[in-house]
Amino acid sequence: MDASAWDERYRGTELVWGAEPNRFLVEEVAGLAPGRALDAACGEGRNALWLAAQGWETAGVDFSEAGVARARSLADQAGLPVTFEVVDLTAWQPPPRRFDLVLVAYLQLPGTVRHDVYGCLTGAVAPGGTMLVIGHDRANLTEGVGGPQHPDVLLDADEVAADLAELVVDVAEQRRRPVAVDGGTRDAVDTVVRARRPR
Ligand SMILES: C[S@@+](CC[C@H](N)C(=O)[O-])C[C@H]1O[C@@H](n2cnc3c(N)ncnc32)[C@H](O)[C@@H]1O
Repeated sequence: MDASAWDERYRGTELVWGAEPNRFLVEEVAGLAPGRALDAACGEGRNALWLAAQGWETAGVDFSEAGVARARSLADQAGLPVTFEVVDLTAWQPPPRRFDLVLVAYLQLPGTVRHDVYGCLTGAVAPGGTMLVIGHDRANLTEGVGGPQHPDVLLDADEVAADLAELVVDVAEQRRRPVAVDGGTRDAVDTVVRARRPR
């Protein structure tokens, strides 16, 4: 999907991804001391806002102007000092070694582009900092529910770990996330990769 297609989605009245942060973000940053955080492909900012509320000095970037506008408005309403910027991650050079946490959640890019973008974002992780990638796993196609249906935009934990090879990978696995479907619950299958740059 291009930026205008995402704009279209974000111009609706409802929050597309809800207001709650992603559960794996909450789990994975639980032991980290707040510092500077980058939420890359922040969408409407649910994760950036949550990080800011936990004391992280947070920046969010996304190529959807409508998503960023909504994120800014939600930050203002909540009185949270998050900075948001409209940025195309495929053509962006993040500031080197700047962030104690770089989050990429559910960014959907074709494989070759994705490898470059992850590699580039890796460079923004400060010494002692963490990079966290969360996304729809390729196994979600056959074992899970929802998410994009094209295999090329789906993740594999080992492939993501290879993209983050300049860091030390501590977690690279599939995780299941219950989703409400048709009055019941089914699991979506996600990829979670957490890596750090040694001090
Ligand atoms: C599924 S949404 C996830 C949003 C957010 N990370 C979350 O978890 O709520 C994917 C986001 O990636 C953004 N995106 C896709 N391609 C992008 C690109 N090349 N540069 C920046 N953002 C991009 C879209 O605009 C969209 O907001």
